[in-house]
Amino acid sequence: MEAPDRNIGLDLVRVTEAAALSCSRWLGKGDKIAGDQAAVDAMRLSFNTVPLDGIIVIGEGEKDEAPMLFNGEKVGMGLGQAVDVAVDPVEGTNLLAYGRPNAISVIGVAPRGSMFDPGPSYYMKKLVVPAEARDVADLDAPVGDNLRAIARALGKDVDDLVVFVLDKPRHKDLITEIRRTGARIQLHTDGDVAGSLMAVDPTNVVDVMMGTGGTPEGVLSACAIRAVGGRMLARLDPQKDDEKKALIKAGTDTKSILTEETLVNSDDTYFAATGISGGTFLRGVRFTGRGAVTHSLVLRGKTGTMRRIESHIALEKLMRFSAVKYD
Ligand code: FBP
Repeated sequence: MEAPDRNIGLDLVRVTEAAALSCSRWLGKGDKIAGDQAAVDAMRLSFNTVPLDGIIVIGEGEKDEAPMLFNGEKVGMGLGQAVDVAVDPVEGTNLLAYGRPNAISVIGVAPRGSMFDPGPSYYMKKLVVPAEARDVADLDAPVGDNLRAIARALGKDVDDLVVFVLDKPRHKDLITEIRRTGARIQLHTDGDVAGSLMAVDPTNVVDVMMGTGGTPEGVLSACAIRAVGGRMLARLDPQKDDEKKALIKAGTDTKSILTEETLVNSDDTYFAATGISGGTFLRGVRFTGRGAVTHSLVLRGKTGTMRRIESHIALEKLMRFSAVKYD
């Protein structure tokens, strides 16, 4: 047996809090670049306090495009466990820029070498269901068959279900098929990490997440699903010719079904997310005049512990010494 050890998730949540706090000043201002930059700056600086030896596997892109939090960058204090790190300082940059719900700041961590590296893949087809429907979900089954089997496993009627779908032209047929089954739909312009986590959270109204979204977002979601339970099924689903060509050139397997277990090949994961704009997943940053209140989720795969943390930030005090300007 082991004595209780350190839960790095509790260090990581300070990093997502800092990023969310910083970029939330850009809420609804129509400037996604400035919002993202604020989050990146705050996350980068705060990461220096986390006692791990991290390499970014999923970051803001290759070094030439991203001066900070780029793929391959070392993060953390360089001591402790050697880990792969996935970051999305703002998951849903447009959600932030237009003040829409469920923009979040996210970090996932797993042992070194255990995270799927998306390489040139941008998109994957995903199906995410709660733990009770783990064994009946089938990425290749017709939508109606899938939803009826999932509903049965959840002890619901199919028209009780709520399916989270990204509101994209590529999902026109999917949406028609879901409607034909009688299931209900939540359409969101962006943010399928929140969508995936809403699907595996028994307290959320969403039961299923379906459709094609970002590959990096899929790996981040898998880090969390390994802790919460539930199932993610996925397959790379290139959307443009450039992406298809790059995958062929890299010899990437686009046929196999991936799961949360192959996307993150260890259950020793940590996941932290802080709400930026607020929604049914996490509350957003609320400025109180003297300070701010943030709402976060912290998960640990090894123990399955889930924490929801409300932090009251005393900005008056913090601004006397903080290098990150939150006010
Ligand atoms: P960003 O944070 O990079 O803006 O991504 C938001 C997002 O909606 C993801 O949640 C989703 O996986 C992906 O973009 C879908 O990509 P696209 O908008 O190109 O269809």
